[in-house]
Order: sequence, then structure tokens, then C-alpha cells
Amino acid sequence: MAASLLLTRSPNYSSCPVISKKSRASGNGNGNGNGKGSIRPSSWSRAGPCLSGKRQMALTPRPPLVSCNIDANNKPCEQGKENESEKNGGGRRDLIQAASMVGLSFLAVSPSPNGSAWGAPVVPPDLNTCGPATVTTPPGVPSAPATSVSCCLLPPTKPIIDYELPSKPKIHRRRPAHKVDDDYISKYNKAYELMKALPSSDPRSFMRQADIHCAFCNGAYNQLGSTNKLQVHFSWLFLPWHRWYLYFHEQILAKLIGDPKFSLVYWNWDNQANVGGNIMPTMFTQEGSALYDAKRNQNHLPPILNTLALTDLASNALTNKQIIQDNLNIMYQSIVTASTPDLFMGKKYSAGDPEPNIGGTLENAPHTAIHAWTGSDKETYLEDMGNFYSAARDPIFFAHHSNVDRLWAVWNTIGGRRRDHTDPDFLNAEFLFYDENGCMVRVKAKDALDNSKLGVTYIKVNGDQLWLNYEPQPLSTTTTSKQVVPRSMDDIPELGPASQDTSPTKIDKKFVSLVKRPTAVPQELLDKGLEEEDLEEVLVLEYVEVPRNVATHIAVFINLPQADATTPLSCAEYVGSFINIPHLVGEGMDMSSRSVCARFGISDNLQRLGITDLSTISVTVVAKLGGSEEIPISLKGIKIEYE
Ligand code: C2O
Repeated sequence: MAASLLLTRSPNYSSCPVISKKSRASGNGNGNGNGKGSIRPSSWSRAGPCLSGKRQMALTPRPPLVSCNIDANNKPCEQGKENESEKNGGGRRDLIQAASMVGLSFLAVSPSPNGSAWGAPVVPPDLNTCGPATVTTPPGVPSAPATSVSCCLLPPTKPIIDYELPSKPKIHRRRPAHKVDDDYISKYNKAYELMKALPSSDPRSFMRQADIHCAFCNGAYNQLGSTNKLQVHFSWLFLPWHRWYLYFHEQILAKLIGDPKFSLVYWNWDNQANVGGNIMPTMFTQEGSALYDAKRNQNHLPPILNTLALTDLASNALTNKQIIQDNLNIMYQSIVTASTPDLFMGKKYSAGDPEPNIGGTLENAPHTAIHAWTGSDKETYLEDMGNFYSAARDPIFFAHHSNVDRLWAVWNTIGGRRRDHTDPDFLNAEFLFYDENGCMVRVKAKDALDNSKLGVTYIKVNGDQLWLNYEPQPLSTTTTSKQVVPRSMDDIPELGPASQDTSPTKIDKKFVSLVKRPTAVPQELLDKGLEEEDLEEVLVLEYVEVPRNVATHIAVFINLPQADATTPLSCAEYVGSFINIPHLVGEGMDMSSRSVCARFGISDNLQRLGITDLSTISVTVVAKLGGSEEIPISLKGIKIEYE
């Protein structure tokens, strides 16, 4: 009844409430200088004629920028350094917000020299500064036409609302996609039909929803007050941003279908029990349905098992049994042994920081693998799912991310130090979305940390236990394969941390080096109240360079110099993977390559291999995908540090 009413009505999203003074004045609660909470931008109007830019500049001297005091070359791998001197100030942030409020866009977008950060949470961009996301083929890669996408957010017609969660949220019970019945599927289908039928002028329409993802991944916006792009991937923003994205997407679908409890499904790709979780869910593969997308890899339709390890090898080279074992260990290494928030959620990314480059293990491995596995290998940039600009044009995206979101919640339950970041720059990071009424809302990361407050629950599945309790065995003791014939370490070069003038080392098919382990636990960690046994030993690959526009995958092993692209990932020597998928880049960014730090917790591996007493270990980096003349991958340094 309600649904049919909706069908005959034109979209009603003109009823955005007015900003509540009370909620805006509440400030950000971290002493970050937001006492003037009420000066938050209430509209995004341009500067009026009465405000002359020059004069204002002269009247309002800017506080000096605080530099991170890190050599520019070394910045990416040092992302996340605390910046104490600015911790309690936030003066610049206030100024920018004030400037933005009165429309002084000249000030709001003034660059921060050398990309230095000023130690404050990331805030929404100036919506007037949106540019196109563009892409060209990187050097050495078979040429493809340059393309450019405009995915700017529709400008809000009403003031932006500081979103307040309902005190009694409607419960959305998200269930596994492979377990829902026909009624559920037809309802789901209907909801997406309605969303796809909305006019493109409606921010709730399917393409506008997809554009939100494109805009905040592909460099459409600068960070407020900076020339650096705003990016919601590759850092600690990844998990809370996507949780909010799903939340509003689900609310919109629920409203369209007239069922306030409507809930997304999750694609249970981590579930290796023989029940159908780890294939592309069939509810999304029926041609003609609103859930169908033709731009998917046609070799990966059911009943092909999804793999969390992309490889150059023909897909039939691995037996299902091996795919399952590999998937289990990828899950185990990405979630269970990622024992700290920096490892699992990704590192710090604050206002004004350059493009973040230290994503968490869930993001870097299984999450990205599913994107690349699903996208069409026939499309230039692996559209739709295999490229961030187009990923959310496939309805399966939201089922994929529901599972990512669910796995975050599972990680929280494992215990130890697996708790969310508590840094105020994380908690108070702010994002913009459109709500179910088409109103633009502003939310904070901290309000997304408890799913129950959002009304979201995940129906439990037993598949989690398989990887939670996975026991990877050392390859050296479980096989007589020639791969593990002991070999002298003498001819293996040693590689240390990258310094300013280190030149990149090419990985090609594989790269082996010896790496020293730290000799002592840093006092600063003990001073933070951490016990020695709580510390994680973290293997860091510094400045891994991968092309932006091709999918690549490196897998990392310790104590197995013989490892190559055929080595199973199910062994205790495997510490994890870093996977990159193409993403368009914003104007003015380096188009060719992306430099990242890949971090892996290895304490559990060292234990299982019985090599906790070694002072030097071998590290083997294997290109499972890429790593050739045409698709170059390189790195600058390797180190092991305590966290
Ligand atoms: Cu925003 Cu799965 O990526």
C-alpha cells in the first residue's frame, strides 16, 4: 500500500528541516577549539559582492601553518604522526570554517604549502570547488583512451543539517545474500527499481548515489583549505565513511519501498563453508533485474568461487580446495592477526594531509580483491566494481560493503587491542551525505562506531568460525615440495628502511631480501601503558609504487625465500597481501603511480614458524598480478617495527 503510494508520487525531498542551533553549538567535544560551534557553514553560498577578498585577507592574518616536520619524500610512510603542537590549537581550522561559512572561498581553498597538515579532523569540502576526475594510461601500460568523469555532488538546495541519530532507530537486520528467499529478493529488486527510476536531479537516484563514491575517491574535491585531494580510502576514514554511506543508502531504499525496516543484504564472500556464501550472490545475477549489472567478469558468475587472491594464473590453475584454504588464511591474516587499529583500520589522515597511503588490512586485501574479481575484465578500467569511480554503479557494491562493515564489527569482538581509533582527529572527522528526504546531512565518524545506534544488526553465520580459528601450518614442515628445500641466505641482499635518496627496487615477478628485526621494544610504547606481550611486530613495505590504472596484487611471505606466484597463500609463512585497483585521479595529481606503505602484523607468523629468536628474517614479495616490464611494481624499503 505504502509502496504503491510512493510509486504514483513525484519524489518528495523538499522538506529538509532547518538546522538546529542546539546541535550545531554542541561543538566537536575534543577541545579542538570549536567553542564557536555555531559558526559552522550553514550554507555554501559564494562570497557576496560586499566581501572583498583582499581586504579580508589583510584584516585576518592567518596563524602560521604547522608543518609535520617530515621530509617530503618520506611523508607517505610517516602518515599518522601526531602533531602535538597543534593538537590543542585548531586555530586554522576555525578560521577556515569561519571563512567557508561566510563564503570566503578564496580563504577556504588557500593552499597549505607542501601539503602540510595542521592537525585537525578532516571536514567536508567546499562544495564549490568540485572538479572532474580524469584518467590516462600510465607509462608502459598498453594505451587506453583518457577519460574524464564528473561526479560532483548535487548542490544542496537547503542548508546542510547536522544529522542526529534517532533515539529509537528502526532495526535493519542485514542478512546474508545467499540465504534470502524469493519474497525478499523481489522486494529488494523493487527498491532498486524505484531508486533507478528517480530523476537524475534527485540526489537519492541510483547514479547520484554512485557519484558520491566516485567524488570522494577520485579526487573531485580538495580538502577544505588545502590543495590536497579529499580521499576516503587508504586511511582510517575508510570504515566509518562507508558505514555512513550504507546507512543512508539503506534509509533511502527503505523509504522508497515504504518499509522502514528494509535492510541491505551482505555478500558473505568470506564464508568458506559449503553453503554458497563465497560465490557472486545469484540474486544479483538475473538479467533484467534491477540488481543486475552487465559490467561484471563473466568468468566469475556462479558457481565459480570468489577468490580473495587475484592472480595472473589461469583461474582453473587452482583447485576449489586450494582457493578455500587460501581465502581462509587471507581472512585470518587480514582480520585476526591485524591486532591494532593502525593495522586493521588504516592509519591517521587529518585535515590538509596529502593523499593517504596507509590503508588497513581489511581494505587492502579481501575488500579490494572482491572489487577486482567482480569488475569486468573486458572493460578498460575493470568497470564497474573494479574501479572506484564506477564501483557503486553496481548494486552488488552495497552488498559487498555490508560484508566489509560486518567484518569490522567482528574484528571489534575478537578482543585484545582490536578497538577503534580514539584519536580526536578520527572521532571528529566529518562527512556529507544525502538522507532519505534528499537533504544534505553532515555526520561524524564517532557516531558510526556503534552499529546498534544506527539500528543495524547482522544476522550471524557460522562461516566466521572457519577463519577466526584458522591454523596456518608452516609450509616447510607440511610438504616435501621442492619449493621449501632449505637454501642458504648468504646470497640474499639485505634491505633496510627507505631513506630520502633510496632508489626504488623493482619487484618484477618476485623480490627477496633480508630484514632485521628490532632489538628492543620502544620505550614510548611502554610509556603508553602497553604491555610487552600486547605489542605487535609489524612488517612495513615502504613506498610500494603501483600503477594507478591497473589492478595489481603483491603477496608477502617471511622465511620462505623460495616463494613465488604459485606458492599457496594458506601457509604460516604468508603474512598478507596488498591489492590495488584502478581509481581515477583528480586534476593535478600524479597520474602514473601511487606510492603506499603496506603493513602486516607478523607476531603470530613468527610464533607459528618457531623463529621468534631470529634477529634477521627473509621477506619475499611476490607479484601475483602485475610485476613485469609493462606493469611495474617497486618498493623502496622494508622495516620491522613494534606497534
Ligand atoms: Cu569505497 Cu569498496 O570502496
